[in-house]
Amino acid sequence: MAQQEKIILTGDRPTGRLHLGHYVGSLRERVRLQDSGDFDRIFIMVADAQALTDNADNPEKVRQNIIEVVLDYLSCGIDPAKTTVFIQSQVPELYEMTAYFMNLVTVARVQRNPTVKSEIKMRGFNADIPVGFFTYPISQASDITAFKATTVPVGEDQLPMLEQTREIVRSFNRIYGEVLVEPEALIPQGEAAKRLPGIDGKAKMSKSLGNGIYLSDPAEDVAAKIKSMYTDPGHLKVSDPGKVEGNAVFTYLDAFSTPEHFAEYWPEYANLAELKDRYRHGGLGDVKCKKFLNNVLEETLSPIRARRHELERDIPALYDMLGAGCEAARGVAAQTLSEMKHAMRIDYFNDAALIAEQSERFAAGK
Ligand code: TRP
Repeated sequence: MAQQEKIILTGDRPTGRLHLGHYVGSLRERVRLQDSGDFDRIFIMVADAQALTDNADNPEKVRQNIIEVVLDYLSCGIDPAKTTVFIQSQVPELYEMTAYFMNLVTVARVQRNPTVKSEIKMRGFNADIPVGFFTYPISQASDITAFKATTVPVGEDQLPMLEQTREIVRSFNRIYGEVLVEPEALIPQGEAAKRLPGIDGKAKMSKSLGNGIYLSDPAEDVAAKIKSMYTDPGHLKVSDPGKVEGNAVFTYLDAFSTPEHFAEYWPEYANLAELKDRYRHGGLGDVKCKKFLNNVLEETLSPIRARRHELERDIPALYDMLGAGCEAARGVAAQTLSEMKHAMRIDYFNDAALIAEQSERFAAGK
């Protein structure tokens, strides 16, 4: 076999603007991978069809958020010259693949998927679960394999999807022959990046909890959110010793601050370890820490915000870019689908041997 190409495919459901949790959990990494030059092709998909699996009654939400997500991508540094950005529903080949993959997966296997399990619980679904939602891990396997992705940068919560995808690939290749490629997940390093808490200190930043800082939030909103941020409830007076574990301000500093930030904004401390030490011993107030965090976050957010404003001035150009991305993605998916159908021997009209053999059989009256 020829040396395997290195291909990235990843994506997001367009159900809202992207926040800092998305940024540290995957966007930052995607931009780094894109610019590393280590990959032959990179695809980023706006998973509108997957978003519809539990938003069938609200297509307007999905329709409005596609552009928000795309603006967030490009303002973070995703470059359409290097990365093909496309919309899932515009690549119908994915659904044809899904139909065949569904025959390779049992109901029991999908029921065991921990991410699906917890999402079902979160949404309060019982027997009223939409079949499309229940089966989205299978559709996600199509998203990945259609592009023969080798690398899928995602958050930790997506690992069961990758496991499911690898199983489907192995079944397909075992039954029909080697066509599909087994992908690897690439998950972010570091606790803070894996699961950035909300400003309320709750487990995870999320739209439904209303505890997020968004990439498109104006600077005043970011400052206000940081001011209201959860710290250590036992740290009442400046002189009190404080806890850094479970203290959202410090978790964010873990994810974002560098020694250069200290040199620039708080030279009293050389690095985060020194700051934490001081906080633990007492004598350091939350207000000062929050002010520093605000400076640190603005270093990341203000250029993103500025690029977003620039991009917002030409929305039609973004749709043109997406249209070209969809067309390119469709070409790749169609090629894989045709290889699959050939391997499955259901490409009847290209199968001269089948037609010849049957002509002979019927002519012989067998
Ligand atoms: N399930 C992913 C999410 O909820 C979105 C997604 C759809 C995806 N298809 C994908 C991610 C394929 C990686 C690869 O964020």
